[in-house]
Amino acid sequence: MTSDVEPENVQDQSPKQDTGLAHRHLLGLEGWSRGDIGRVLDTAVQFREVLDRPIRSVPSLRGVTVVNLFYEPSTRTRISFELAEKRLSADVVNFSSSGSSISKGETLRDTARNIEAMKIDMVIIRHGSAGAPSFLTRCVDAVVINAGDGAHEHPTQALLDALTIREQFGRIEGLRISIIGDIMHSRVARSNLHALTTLGADVTICGPASLLPVHLDRLLGEGARGRVRVTTCLDEALDGCDVAMALRIQMERQGRSLFPSVREYHEQFGIRMEHMEAHRDLIVMHPGPVNRGVELATDVVDHERALILNQVTNGVAVRMSVLYLMADGTKRHA
Ligand code: NCD
Repeated sequence: MTSDVEPENVQDQSPKQDTGLAHRHLLGLEGWSRGDIGRVLDTAVQFREVLDRPIRSVPSLRGVTVVNLFYEPSTRTRISFELAEKRLSADVVNFSSSGSSISKGETLRDTARNIEAMKIDMVIIRHGSAGAPSFLTRCVDAVVINAGDGAHEHPTQALLDALTIREQFGRIEGLRISIIGDIMHSRVARSNLHALTTLGADVTICGPASLLPVHLDRLLGEGARGRVRVTTCLDEALDGCDVAMALRIQMERQGRSLFPSVREYHEQFGIRMEHMEAHRDLIVMHPGPVNRGVELATDVVDHERALILNQVTNGVAVRMSVLYLMADGTKRHA
């Protein structure tokens, strides 16, 4: 059942109106301005309100067809996108790599041709190879949204993280945020580095030397370089820190073992109760899925200053916002 009520300002914007985003696709947050990121977050706040209503859907994307193209396993992100699409009343189709022609060897280009033939307006793609979403933009007319490509970017995750932080502190500018763990293999870290530095946070990245990117400065834009500090010492990363964002150890992306043992990793880089007690205002986040007892001690996962479930809720609102704003770029509205 769909409500005819839209969040106030959202209702005022006809879908045909130019929402002013500088990008037709969301491939990554590299190059996204503070204004564009702010617009996504502000719109997400309005959708966040819709999610708290008894009737949680709006008709904004009625008639828009969205395909979820997932070439990699995903629970949270896939469900979150699907829920966001349904809350906006879009028509939704799912392709996942198991049980479809993808597993029968169809190339991404051929899958794209089929998408085109089916007159799909928006494609949400998760793929193990960095650059797959960008490749897709060259094969289809649909608007493409990256739901995670290899170790490159995972923009909607960073947007939902930014929304969660802004909700907690009322701002992002001037906050000290530490990203801890497997930075090298993490698309979440990359997207967050772009978003958080653009929004004016000071970011520390921390992890074993073998999991830190070798050419960090190549990864960052001009303005971000002075805002990012690197350390291999957890205590240093937590000292004066407002938010600690722990990342999952990406076993599946590591060609070889890059640290001695999971137990040792937890001892050196895991956030434990002693850290929560020593840093009484510290907020902890994690994109999930959490390896309990590895990146975070199990009682830290359930701690009142852990915002992991707020991140999940905000994920739906942020994806509604992205879909809503980017639907402007579909042929349907051209
Ligand atoms: C992240 C991902 O898939 O990149 N998870 C997610 O989107 N919920 C992080 C991870 O897999 O560790």
